[in-house]
Amino acid sequence: MVTPGAFLKASFHASREFFRPPVETPERDRVITRPRPGDAPVMVPIRSIGPSHGERIAAHLLSLDAHDRYLRFGYAANDEQIRRYVSGLDFERDEIFGIYNRRLELIAMAHLAFSTDPNLKSCAEFGVSVLARARGRGYGARLFDRAVMHARNEGVDMMFIHALSENTAMLNIARKAGAIIERDGSESEAYLKLPPADMDSRVTEMVEEQIAQTDYRLKVQAKQFWDLLAMVQEVRSGVRDSRERSSP
Ligand SMILES: CC(C)(COP(=O)(O)OP(=O)(O)OC[C@H]1O[C@@H](n2cnc3c(N)ncnc32)[C@H](O)[C@@H]1OP(=O)(O)O)[C@@H](O)C(=O)NCCC(=O)NCCS
Repeated sequence: MVTPGAFLKASFHASREFFRPPVETPERDRVITRPRPGDAPVMVPIRSIGPSHGERIAAHLLSLDAHDRYLRFGYAANDEQIRRYVSGLDFERDEIFGIYNRRLELIAMAHLAFSTDPNLKSCAEFGVSVLARARGRGYGARLFDRAVMHARNEGVDMMFIHALSENTAMLNIARKAGAIIERDGSESEAYLKLPPADMDSRVTEMVEEQIAQTDYRLKVQAKQFWDLLAMVQEVRSGVRDSRERSSP
């Protein structure tokens, strides 16, 4: 378990990063990277997101290419189908988790869908996507861990992941967490039995959520600051240009 102290330390470190000017290289998308062997534990701020983020969820999913959409939804969803999926999200019943970069783009998201079948009341299904440029940094696995913790705290005892058999990354994540994987031709179903919630899972989720909300607020403030600065600089250079043009 990552302790609250480690979370706070990492969050403080991350917050100092926000007030550096955002640059347009993919490198700057890194929230916090996957630890290398021997590194201290790091945390990725993952927050629970609500209906006010619908546009960002749609933008994230629409930016997946056809193959990724196929892997995510099991069919090559077109834009219209993605918009329908987003507008059909039930934020009351389900949980959506997201990872934002400093430009407030949703670079990774997961959907934990609770079963509506009365016979499968304690089951939930997990779906996830990470933007291609942000992959391989552990975000998919972190979102999975976060969803597992939330599911446990909500009384879920079985989590399902439906994936195509070719989806090595997704199946790796599930297998590593201890899921049983049943392959049926081109499709696979992973089942993960969850332990009941305990004090640790409840406190950790609460701390993680608080830190992720703080992280997001800091990113919003930093973005407002840099947007304002860019506007002031634009006005200044406009004034300078017009002065130069009007001077004899
Ligand atoms: C599946 C997906 C979410 C993984 O996200 P990610 O952030 O790149 O994954 P991680 O960095 O956490 O890596 C998870 C594991 O998969 C492995 N992995 C990552 N990409 C891989 C690839 N292309 N091939 C094989 N293994 C891969 C990693 O090595 C890691 O295993 P490890 O912990 O043993 O090292 C991402 O590839 C994605 O969005 N794909 C499109 C949508 C999709 O397939 N969704 C899943 C169906 S619901």
